[in-house]
Amino acid sequence: MDRFRSKNIIVTGAGSGFGAAIATRFADEGANVLLSDIDQEAVESVAAGLDASGIIATSFTNVAEEDQVIAMMEAATSAFGGIDVLVNNAGYSHLNKLTWKISVEEFDAVFAVNVRGVFLGCKHVIPVMIEQGTGGSIINIASVGAIAPRPGVTPYNATKGAVLTMTKGLAAEVARNNIRVNAVNPVASLTGFMKGATGIASEDMADDMKQRLVSTIPLGRMAEPVDIAGAVTFLASDDAVFMTGTALNVDGGRSI
Ligand SMILES: NC(=O)c1ccc[n+]([C@@H]2O[C@H](COP(=O)([O-])OP(=O)(O)OC[C@H]3O[C@@H](n4cnc5c(N)ncnc54)[C@H](O)[C@@H]3O)[C@@H](O)[C@H]2O)c1
Repeated sequence: MDRFRSKNIIVTGAGSGFGAAIATRFADEGANVLLSDIDQEAVESVAAGLDASGIIATSFTNVAEEDQVIAMMEAATSAFGGIDVLVNNAGYSHLNKLTWKISVEEFDAVFAVNVRGVFLGCKHVIPVMIEQGTGGSIINIASVGAIAPRPGVTPYNATKGAVLTMTKGLAAEVARNNIRVNAVNPVASLTGFMKGATGIASEDMADDMKQRLVSTIPLGRMAEPVDIAGAVTFLASDDAVFMTGTALNVDGGRSI
């Protein structure tokens, strides 16, 4: 399929996990893709592994820093001539612990990346999309924890709740410009994310801990990055042209 031929796409946090799978799927389907991450080595390695017919570019961007987000938009417009899709995927969780044991520094840091980062991405891509006059699509990666939180990562889940509210409010603001804003709520997945959230890298996680996670998911497994890539590319595609302000739960039924 070549659904995204000549489409210009930015994926943040593309050096690992969901972002790498999302960027790969867009590249496989003919898009021009700018893979952005704070981790230069990781994002270069993902970009080098792509078998793409479109243009591939990289940027080393901390999404919490406004000047770096502006530079990311400039890198995309200079590489491709425009931006049709922005996937605000970069994010992380503080370590799983009870809320009153979380420091103000941990709280502020996770809001800076997960909420300010999404705000900055939207703030600086929307003028580009409006100026182009051809509309656009923004997809924000939230979490099932935003709609069905469990104990332990409450400030993190609150960041994702903020992302969902921002998605809806923004969708209402930019609909007149034919810019759609949607979100995806993934369930647990064995990506780089797990090390931050649990203190244990995915590859070192004990089977009983994996089982505990899986036991809350009706479809009986965790999310794979390709599951998230499928939902994101659907939302970016023409099949979803009448969808805005929505969130797709890609969670194996965990939020039922
Ligand atoms: N894996 C899960 O269980 C899970 C579940 C629900 C939601 N999510 C969300 O999915 C998104 C992707 O996470 P993942 O699971 O692929 O994790 P991951 O750790 O594998 O990948 C995240 C990527 O984001 C990058 N990143 C982190 N902070 C950044 C910053 N300030 N600026 C730019 N890049 C930054 C990292 O370097 C990394 O490459 C995150 O927003 C996360 O909150 C993950």
